[in-house]
Amino acid sequence: MVNFEVEDYNGQRKTVEVPEDMGLSLMEVLKASDYEVLATCGGMALCATCHVEVLSGEENLGEPNDAELDMIDTLPNITPTSRLACQLKISEEMNGMVFRLKGDGV
Ligand code: FES
Repeated sequence: MVNFEVEDYNGQRKTVEVPEDMGLSLMEVLKASDYEVLATCGGMALCATCHVEVLSGEENLGEPNDAELDMIDTLPNITPTSRLACQLKISEEMNGMVFRLKGDGV
């Protein structure tokens, strides 16, 4: 199992625990955990409603792909560690990481 923390739009943090071997994206896990993530594009890196800021552990993630970078570039509330949760596959490396929800349109 992988454990990481999620900070919601109200600044409240909770630990989320998920199996790392199901091939899920962080966006899918957030939705399944009842966070308000619209994910209107279904995980195609086109809507940015799954925008998260990585507060801790950014070095554990791979580099964003071009589609993710292009989308992030268009956001008004970008941070140096902004990522799209739909492009992040759950993996053991996420253990102990902290994500803050930044999604637009919620
Ligand atoms: S779900 Fe639309 S960009 Fe991630």
